[in-house]
Amino acid sequence: MLMSLNRRLSRSWCLMALCLLLVACGGKSGNSKSTQGSPPPGADDEPIAEEASFNTAQGFTVLREPQPRLPLDEPEREFTDADFAAGLPAVKITVPEGLDQSVNQPPYIDNLANVQVVAGEVLEVIYRPQDPEGDIPGMFPNKLPQGSEFADNFDGTKTFRWQPLQMDVGVLQFTVTAVDPVNSAYRSSHPIMIKVVMPKDPATIPNVAPMLDEVLPHTARAGDPVVFELKGIDLNGTIPTLELPDPPAGASFNPHPRFEEVFVLKFTPAEAGEISVPVLARDSVDTSLSSVQNINLTVLAADAFEVPGSALKTLGAARNVQMGFAALQSFYHRPDGGIYAATAVREYDIVTPENSMKMDYINPEPGRYQFAATDNLIAFAQANGMSVHAHPLVWYRQLPGWIESAALADLETHMREYIQRIMGRYADAVSVWDVINEPLESNGQFRDSNPDTGSIWYQAMGPAYIDKALTLARQLDPESSLLINEFDIGMAGAKFDGLMRLVDDLQAREIPLDGIGFQLHVFSSFDQFDELRANFAAVAERGLDIYITELDVALTEGGTPSQQALVYREIAAACLEQPRCRAIQTWGLTDQYSFRTHFDPLPFDRSYQPKSAYEALQSALEP
Ligand code: G3I
Repeated sequence: MLMSLNRRLSRSWCLMALCLLLVACGGKSGNSKSTQGSPPPGADDEPIAEEASFNTAQGFTVLREPQPRLPLDEPEREFTDADFAAGLPAVKITVPEGLDQSVNQPPYIDNLANVQVVAGEVLEVIYRPQDPEGDIPGMFPNKLPQGSEFADNFDGTKTFRWQPLQMDVGVLQFTVTAVDPVNSAYRSSHPIMIKVVMPKDPATIPNVAPMLDEVLPHTARAGDPVVFELKGIDLNGTIPTLELPDPPAGASFNPHPRFEEVFVLKFTPAEAGEISVPVLARDSVDTSLSSVQNINLTVLAADAFEVPGSALKTLGAARNVQMGFAALQSFYHRPDGGIYAATAVREYDIVTPENSMKMDYINPEPGRYQFAATDNLIAFAQANGMSVHAHPLVWYRQLPGWIESAALADLETHMREYIQRIMGRYADAVSVWDVINEPLESNGQFRDSNPDTGSIWYQAMGPAYIDKALTLARQLDPESSLLINEFDIGMAGAKFDGLMRLVDDLQAREIPLDGIGFQLHVFSSFDQFDELRANFAAVAERGLDIYITELDVALTEGGTPSQQALVYREIAAACLEQPRCRAIQTWGLTDQYSFRTHFDPLPFDRSYQPKSAYEALQSALEP
């Protein structure tokens, strides 16, 4: 199990002393001004045990954040009153390659304007798409606000109809795209800004029945516990209660300990079959108002998940390669958490947190930390003989607002403190660290001051941030492997060349580095296997290890499962041919939860059935 709390805290104090010493004397890699840092984790950041009725975990105790119940999330507002006042946003024309605009002008929608509407009133905007060449263009809304419609009038026009309520107060952008009648890739997108304001008398706003937030279809295994975190939604901005008119046998149904609008249903389906559970959402102001939606679950018999042949980790161990995956954050709070865990334990011996160790999640505000999800993943890994690949320490993305708005002069201190606090808590449990994540642009240059793709760490410290982070990481965890992790380096090109220049420079100055993470987010059309082998060899020649860290193979349009399988097989083979290749880790295990889910990129499908991609990995690994 994870280090006991006392040992961990005492280790943290020792590491903290080391880090304060390093910060004060600027570490070994140069002077750093010891400036204003942020408060360290405290006792009120320590996760507490979660009751079993809220999760599917077996074999370890799930922890949760101790913070009190949180109010309903304020809806995230992307636009402001100033955006509304700035006038009608520009039309965006998409012109397909090779199209001659002199003979085919873009479709268009005219007579549009920004509009203000009072909550509770019905807004109607008629859209009439036109095309200079005369035919009627196609038309679709990019994203409809909840409860609105885009109705066809069957006369070439459509009406956007919407009755905004309290939850909609603010400014939003609504975009409709017209599609050229001749070339569907030729389009014009027409945004308008809508400003919703409250009426003088809120009682004039109709009280609508609450509803249940969408629940995706899931497949579970008979005999496994199933957990649904069900969220009520009331567009009037109140929090509905949820009830089960016809609960499954033996079900528990409890309000979530932290999120007021969430209720947690747990039950264990004993038999295979299609299960449908009615859930009633009841208005908390007018209790006569309610609605019922069904949640559906496909339950398969346990033997439907048996996989022929040897497990990937067994085959990999015989070839001195670890087989791993990136774990969905809090998978034990999902309906299929049971089969998810069982598949992971059967197949893999190294695990990476997909999101729970990212700075914006684990340290969202100065002095506030969310360790529970990572603590739980490490407990799961240790209970099931898996190593842990920590990801990431220093990345230009997923930074909390307080870091993005910090003074550049303070960022070295923040970076050092963050590395010390995360490694101080997890060093004993982690064998590989993605210390530096994605430091380069596609041209092989450092991510620097580009407002969209630059790195504030670079802006604050120059390229030396890499030296400082790696040097501090080595001091804090001398036994683990320290990586630079990058994408789009699986083929010849400027980015890989830039990475090798970086490695050569670091090695010339004896900056600690143990390996390179090849993310390998590729497509089923990938065929640069010789270039991949050459890049592996270039890394190995520098005495560094190779980790395939985020492998997934997205099916391109027209791509086939057998092409996908071939790519998995060839990449695995390239790793197995290279003695310095230590692990093959996919970025997830089931298409159900992939960040590229629309491209079915992973070895298991949404029902945890092995795909030809899985069989290809098996066959590549077989002796
Ligand atoms: O957890 C919040 C949730 O509370 C909120 O309601 C929701 C909507 O705003 O967002 C949720 O956080 C999302 C998070 O994934 C967890 O689902 C973030 O918005 C979303 O940006 C984040 O995307 C992750 C992305 O990195 C950015 O961190 C992907 O899942 C993850 O697969 C992807 O992984 C990266 C590697 O870390 C680095 N290499 C590239 C790879 C793919 O981009």
